[in-house]
Amino acid sequence: MLIREAQVSDIDQMLAIEDYCYDNPWPREAFEEEVENSAQGIGFIAEEDGYMVGFATGLAVANEYHLHNIAVHPDHQGQGIGRHLLEKIDEYCHEKDLHKILLEVRRDNETARRLYLGMGYESVGHRKDYYGTGRDAYLFTKTLARE
Ligand SMILES: CC(C)(COP(=O)(O)OP(=O)(O)OC[C@H]1O[C@@H](n2cnc3c(N)ncnc32)[C@H](O)[C@@H]1OP(=O)(O)O)[C@@H](O)C(=O)NCCC(=O)NCCS
Repeated sequence: MLIREAQVSDIDQMLAIEDYCYDNPWPREAFEEEVENSAQGIGFIAEEDGYMVGFATGLAVANEYHLHNIAVHPDHQGQGIGRHLLEKIDEYCHEKDLHKILLEVRRDNETARRLYLGMGYESVGHRKDYYGTGRDAYLFTKTLARE
């Protein structure tokens, strides 16, 4: 598996994976904002045999990385790709001297919560109705050891 930085030309395939993974997928503009328009935006693509199988996007803000989206194509879930994307983000943060990673996850997204806990994230807060009425989020963070 190859993990590389996301480019504008990846957006179509990112949208396709997004559609498979979410009931309320991000619109194209949201991907354009992070991958194309924002100097702070940085995303990663997981590829297998030249095909995109997953992605993660977010913003590097001050000394933090805000992870906004991570998704793996349903046919490839459970194969360690999500974990590899998060490892790449850790590596990027070390390189760029970013000390903390933050993200929100839906309270009922057990799979994602387990992924984050297994990668050293901790739940530090609860955001009521974050994704709409009755759809709460947990705030997770990971503090990176300085080398
Ligand atoms: C969450 C997601 C990114 C995980 O990616 P993945 O490549 O399937 O995850 P991995 O194979 O790397 O698994 C890593 C860990 O996640 C957890 N996990 C993965 N699949 C799971 C499942 N079906 N049930 C429970 N936990 C699961 C496990 O803790 C696993 O660690 P383990 O293999 O040591 O048990 C993927 O399921 C996905 O795209 N889901 C839809 C979109 C989404 O919910 N994104 C997160 C938004 S916050």
